[in-house]
Amino acid sequence: MVKPSVFVTRRWPAAVEAKLAEDYNVVLNTSDKPLSPAEIRSALKTHDAVLPTVTDTLNAEALDAPGAQTRILGNYGVGYSHICAASARDLGLTVTNTPDVLSECTADLAMTLMLMVARRAGEGERELRAGGWTGWRPTHLVGTKVSGKVLGIIGYGRIGQEMARRAHHGFGMEVVVYNRSCVAPEVLARCNATQVDTIEELLPRCDFVSLHCPGGAENRHLINSRRLDLMTPDAFLINTARGEVIDEFALIQALQYDLIGGAALDVFDGEPRVSPELLHCDNLVMLPHLGSATKEAREAMGFRVLDNLADFFQGRDPRDRVI
Ligand code: DGY
Repeated sequence: MVKPSVFVTRRWPAAVEAKLAEDYNVVLNTSDKPLSPAEIRSALKTHDAVLPTVTDTLNAEALDAPGAQTRILGNYGVGYSHICAASARDLGLTVTNTPDVLSECTADLAMTLMLMVARRAGEGERELRAGGWTGWRPTHLVGTKVSGKVLGIIGYGRIGQEMARRAHHGFGMEVVVYNRSCVAPEVLARCNATQVDTIEELLPRCDFVSLHCPGGAENRHLINSRRLDLMTPDAFLINTARGEVIDEFALIQALQYDLIGGAALDVFDGEPRVSPELLHCDNLVMLPHLGSATKEAREAMGFRVLDNLADFFQGRDPRDRVI
């Protein structure tokens, strides 16, 4: 039997690329450079499957490929707001993602950011590396205690729930949740969490607010200046979801005028571009989109794409079909 042809848009962990090469006729992007819309269109015309990832832009222009040979987009990543759903449907494409396998690592990173910003770890490291540390003193880089505080979680899917588990069972935090749909009582009970009906109700109650909702048009600027104003002046905002969920201009103002205690970001609107104003905010911790960046999670994400491809090419409905 002829093996299906598969096009991979970026480098993947070696173990996964090796398995892909065993099972399929694979073309790898050995340069690891992001593809242009024209290159994506050309891949769609010549391969049975295209395996994009969260930094590829599969908008209407890139998916304008009538008569495409591709029947499945096996996305490497859980978020798929970079794929234009209407265009994918028009082309008759099946789209899959990679949930579950990165939830723990992404929640670990959200905890890292929360602790870093509260305890001023970024500021401390910058001071030490710059040779500016003059020694211990009672007033040096005094931060905020995390244990026992109130954590607001916006978006209570798998990653939000993992964040709650760490915060509640590890740090004794009280968890307040906002989620579009009603969360089952037994799921809330695992972390003694309370669900509120609106973001407006959640924000003023929290010492920390962590974003775990999807990106895309519907959540663009979900956190805007009006909502930042509802946070208490000492509260911290953590974003490991998608950059566009926060109105970055409003956040910069809030940080510059100390309207909130601080923020910690793993994702940026228009990344990898980072607003120069953000670089000057000391009450801000920034990481370069590292949420799922562990060997374990990145390999598991790749093997999850392989599972989805196997389902699809063997005539089963892929377990992670999102379109
Ligand atoms: C995703 O999977 O959507 C993350 O942003 C990258 O792991």
